[in-house]
Amino acid sequence: MRRSIVAGNWKMHGSRSMIEDLVKSLATSVNTDTCDVIVSPPFPYLSLVQQLTAGTGIGLAGQNCSEHAQGAHTGEVAADMLVDLGCEWVILGHSERRQAGETDAQVAAKAATARSAGLKPILCVGESLAQRQSGDAVAVVTAQLAALVEDLSAGDVIAYEPVWAIGTGETATPEQAQEMHSEIRAFLVEQQPTLAQQTRILYGGSVKADNAAELFAAADIDGGLVGGASLKADGFSAIVGAAQ
Ligand code: 13P
Repeated sequence: MRRSIVAGNWKMHGSRSMIEDLVKSLATSVNTDTCDVIVSPPFPYLSLVQQLTAGTGIGLAGQNCSEHAQGAHTGEVAADMLVDLGCEWVILGHSERRQAGETDAQVAAKAATARSAGLKPILCVGESLAQRQSGDAVAVVTAQLAALVEDLSAGDVIAYEPVWAIGTGETATPEQAQEMHSEIRAFLVEQQPTLAQQTRILYGGSVKADNAAELFAAADIDGGLVGGASLKADGFSAIVGAAQ
């Protein structure tokens, strides 16, 4: 039995006051008993969110980390620093970063650095609309995974986020999502048989309070990576509720 995860990716949103309000309401409204609940603030707010979530059961994720352990890399953030600020997780290979030029090889290198620091990577994969329309969705996602599975470790999480569903309000149907999640699971069975059944696979792309339950009911969907709807405490708590 895989424990569900609901992770909120705040992307480049928020301010000190907005985040204080959000986390204070989350702390009283989300139930972390049977579900891993994670929030991923922008780097400058990690320390604030660490203080506000202490003792609540809500986990912390970085939105990215460097592939380098440390050194002269201006503007980069080391995996060790995320650990130092209380992160247990790091989102890697988000499509918004891939669109800005991040390659499969870089995502794999970052995942290796993150694991050595003791972080659990949330590894994002997903096809564009054009790739889905041309029938290449499974091939694209499998190729992205192929770069990552060799070093897959216990605790790693995969997030399937079809690019056409991110921030568009257009969610994959539970059938479309389950179809891809079962392809991902089958690929893991082939490539990493001992980890395949325990690895959690999240769906991301316009997850909302009103569509979460039917998505999470699918056999291979182990929770969600939520963008826009994670910025409001009531909506996010309802999504957590749907995973329970
Ligand atoms: P939305 O939930 O806003 O579509 O974003 C999904 C996402 O990119 C989470 O990482």
